[in-house]
Formats: sequence, structure tokens, C-alpha cells
Amino acid sequence: MDEKKDQNLEAPTILVTGGTGGIGFQIARTLVSCGARLTVTGRDAARGIAASRELSCLGHPVRFVQADLSDQKGTLELAKIVLETHSRLDVLVNNVGGVWNRRETTADGLEKILAVNHVHPFLLSEALFQLLHSSSGKVIHLSTGYHLLVRVGPKDWLQQRWDSGMNVYGRAKLISLLAGRALCQRWAREGVVIQFADPGLAKTPLTQAMDATYFPWYGRWLFPAVHWVQNRLPLSWAGRQAAALALDRNDRRPGLYALPGGLRLPAFSSVGDRSRGQLFLRLTLEEWITPESQRILAALSQR
Ligand SMILES: NC(=O)c1ccc[n+]([C@@H]2O[C@H](COP(=O)([O-])OP(=O)(O)OC[C@H]3O[C@@H](n4cnc5c(N)ncnc54)[C@H](OP(=O)(O)O)[C@@H]3O)[C@@H](O)[C@H]2O)c1
Repeated sequence: MDEKKDQNLEAPTILVTGGTGGIGFQIARTLVSCGARLTVTGRDAARGIAASRELSCLGHPVRFVQADLSDQKGTLELAKIVLETHSRLDVLVNNVGGVWNRRETTADGLEKILAVNHVHPFLLSEALFQLLHSSSGKVIHLSTGYHLLVRVGPKDWLQQRWDSGMNVYGRAKLISLLAGRALCQRWAREGVVIQFADPGLAKTPLTQAMDATYFPWYGRWLFPAVHWVQNRLPLSWAGRQAAALALDRNDRRPGLYALPGGLRLPAFSSVGDRSRGQLFLRLTLEEWITPESQRILAALSQR
């Protein structure tokens, strides 16, 4: 399917990363059922083709793009394919995330949880900015309530602290929120909205791979209860708020945070958060996005 040839301006064109499984698939189901023209991504081709076939039965044909967002190269390759095949993009849903219970480093030399949950979604949004801009588009980042349980200190800015996978994950999502909110007013002036959706708890490939060792020692006793709740909540529930934000053309409040129950919180703007946001924005743009990726980003922006 070539979006450039097959366009219906009434139907929003939406890209959901990791739309072939877990919460992303649920978001994709709702979007395509509501008439969106959809592209979904995932690493596994067989799973991706099966998911896009299933989704296509609900509405417009759904395109699958195989992409590994574990490093900056894979993320920019996805951006390049999207720029070549799409003439508009109304919404980018940055759904792919991840948590591991030991420290790993990406091909770009970054701590992997920070990279996958913050740097790569940020890089994809930057690479697709012109396309989003020409469509007056939105970026929706999947967040987590766990960000409320952690703090980010100087050791985290330097990526030196490993206390548990979940705490590092919570801080990566908090950094995404702070940097995103630092950027969102500027992007909003240029016509692109950045918003956040918290899916709550859900039984997905990500959470099924987890055990108590992912949590800090003082929180491990909570794991069985969290797992119990996670396994009982309907997966469709977890995808609802991100899908609702994606389809909502009227709610363009920059920095908005949608809670799992539907409440939408406007961006907070305390001085501390604003200055930390600027710091994380600078670190992301100048240090965490590699010089090679900066070069590719500049080339993609000139297309
Ligand atoms: N599940 C929860 O309880 C929960 C709670 C709060 C927030 N969240 C957030 O919600 C989002 C989705 O969570 P989830 O639990 O649905 O995750 P998930 O189970 O890992 O999502 C699976 C989907 O993501 C793709 N995927 C996973 N890693 C990828 C990678 N490195 N590159 C490209 N695609 C990848 C999978 O396809 P392939 O395997 O084929 O690549 C599949 O399409 C994440 O941002 C997560 O942090 C989840």
C-alpha cells in the first residue's frame, strides 16, 4: 500500500510503533475500527504480517513495517521508510518501551532502558517532525504511573545509577515526560502537539517476561499483587486512552497527560520541572543522540 497514492483526507493517518502486539495492538485495533489509515511496526515479520492481516479485517488495509527500535540506526531506518511512503502523518504513537532486570548497553553506548523508552521515541519524533508539521500532527508517548514513584538525580543524568530495572524504567519515562514537556510549547507553536498516555497495568509480552527481580528489594513483596491485577485487567482497557487521544482532533493541549481512567491532566509547569526538562532536552539532543544519528537526522530533515 502506498499512502501517497491511496489517500483519504478525512481518515487520519497514524503510525503505531509496536502495534503488532501487547498494548500497541489494542491501540491499533481501536484506531483502525474508527476508520484510521494505519501503519504498525514490530521486529518480528511473521507476527507483524499476522497482526496487520487481522487489523485489516476491521477497516482500511493496515501496513506493517519491520523495524527494530532497540538502537538509533533501526529507529532512523523506520523514519526513512515512513518519509518515503507517507505524504501525511496525523499521529505518531510512540508505544514501544521496555524494561530489563540487568544493565544492558545499546549499540550506541547508551543504557538500554533510557534508550528504548526515551531516546529512540524522541529520535523518531524528531525525524518525522516535518511530516507531522505538514499534517498539523500529534505525537503521543506511552508513559507509566511508575514515574511517580522515582526521582531523577545527577547520577541519573549521567546514567550511572542501577538500583532496579523498574526504577530505571520509571526514571526513563519521567525523563521522557520532562524533556517532552520542555519541547512541547515550541512544537505547539509550529503546529505539532506532544501528549502522553498512561495505559495503567496490562498483561503483555513485556509484563509476562517480568518477575520480582525487576523491582527494587523493598518493593518485591508487591510483585504478586501487581501481577495478579495485571493478569485480570482487559488488555483493551490499556489501549483506550492513547487511542482516544490519537483520534481526538480537538484536544491539542501540549504536554497533556491522559490517565488510564480517562482523566486528562494539563502540563505542570513548576520552575524545577521546567529547568530539569531543559537539561534533559539538551542531554537528549546533544549527548544521547549520537553524532552519526544527528547527521542522518539533518539529511532526513532536508528531504
Ligand atoms: N504493560 C503494562 O502493564 C504497561 C504499563 C505502563 C506502561 N506501559 C507502556 O506501554 C507501552 C507498551 O507496553 P507493552 O507492555 O504492550 O509492551 P510489549 O509487550 O513489549 O509490546 C509488544 C509490541 O512491541 C513490539 N516491540 C517490543 N520491543 C520492540 C523493539 N525493541 N523494537 C520494535 N518493536 C518492539 C513487539 O513486536 P516484536 O516483538 O515483533 O518486536 C509488539 O508489537 C510501553 O511503552 C510500556 O512502557 C505498559
